[in-house]
Amino acid sequence: MANLQTTYLGLPVSSPVIAGASAMTGDPEKIAAMAQAGAGAIVIRSLFEEQILSDSNQLAFESGQYAEYPEALDYIQGYTRDNDLQRYVDVVKECKKAVDVPIIGSINCVTEGEWMSFAGKIQDAGADALELNIATSPLDIAQSPVKAEETLFDIIDSVRKIVSIPVAVKIGPGYTNLASIIRKIGRSGVGGIVLFMRFYTPDIDIDKMELTDRLSASSPAEYVYPLRWVGIASSLVSIDIAAGTGIHSADAVVKQILAGARVAYVVSTLYENGIEYLSKINRNIGGWMDSKGFATVEDFRGVMSNKAEENSVMYERFQYVKRNAGVFG
Ligand SMILES: Cc1cc2nc3c(=O)[nH]c(=O)nc-3n(C[C@H](O)[C@H](O)[C@H](O)COP(=O)(O)O)c2cc1C
Repeated sequence: MANLQTTYLGLPVSSPVIAGASAMTGDPEKIAAMAQAGAGAIVIRSLFEEQILSDSNQLAFESGQYAEYPEALDYIQGYTRDNDLQRYVDVVKECKKAVDVPIIGSINCVTEGEWMSFAGKIQDAGADALELNIATSPLDIAQSPVKAEETLFDIIDSVRKIVSIPVAVKIGPGYTNLASIIRKIGRSGVGGIVLFMRFYTPDIDIDKMELTDRLSASSPAEYVYPLRWVGIASSLVSIDIAAGTGIHSADAVVKQILAGARVAYVVSTLYENGIEYLSKINRNIGGWMDSKGFATVEDFRGVMSNKAEENSVMYERFQYVKRNAGVFG
């Protein structure tokens, strides 16, 4: 019988399938259901740096009465910020009491700043690890790409000085030289890297002729993008690699592990198929392992990664040169 146990960020997990951060993982009841259904660990929805700062600024701004009382303004900004944080801390504490799978706190951060003290409070609340969803803005045309990368590593350095629990860094795929960033993250002292964050995208309703604010769920075809980079990252870093985006089935989880992932994150598939679907994914991973004669996840992790020389041609090919050969005669 296949054994799905492994570790992530040094923490024992019963399955390599992790419930990634989403609106669902802000709700302790849903988190308990995810643990019950077999999630190896759960990442609580992010505490957003921007949200905290803008919530407190907005409240203070709306109450224009405070404009002439700067001490009162400071107080009210501090109050709303602390309230957001308190809600987050309460969710972490509640989950730690209710479930026995690792609970990973998450902060969405764009700058190095005041929010960093929150990292320590999430640790104090009992989180087993902390995920930094670092999303330096791709819209700030005044910021150079070099500065954006420096900010990423400044954030990592500062947070590591504040917490002693393991830290994972979740990044999007939008870097000029992704391999270089991945390697640097691998050497930055964090325990893991999540490839990739999938950012929110709007859509257009062509009947109403307007932009729509829809649930930005991934499609099952998207797993190939993290798959390539998980395979490549395996030869660049020795920290844990978590695959994320487009992972909707046991097959997709197995592929990410074969490419070298320690765990795979699922989000959209839980919205589409329900939380109970986690148990089906686990069952099907076990079924595949049995059919191949793999007793543990370690038996097949990384066997198809970029470390094997014969795979590097496939992982590192970016253009369709071969397929296009002969098209123009
Ligand atoms: C409704 C929703 C809320 C999300 N909230 C967060 C969040 O708070 N923090 C975060 O790091 N990612 C968040 N994400 C991104 C997911 O964690 C994940 O990176 C993305 O959905 C890709 O995985 P998937 O293809 O399995 O959906 C959210 C995604 C969705 C759909």
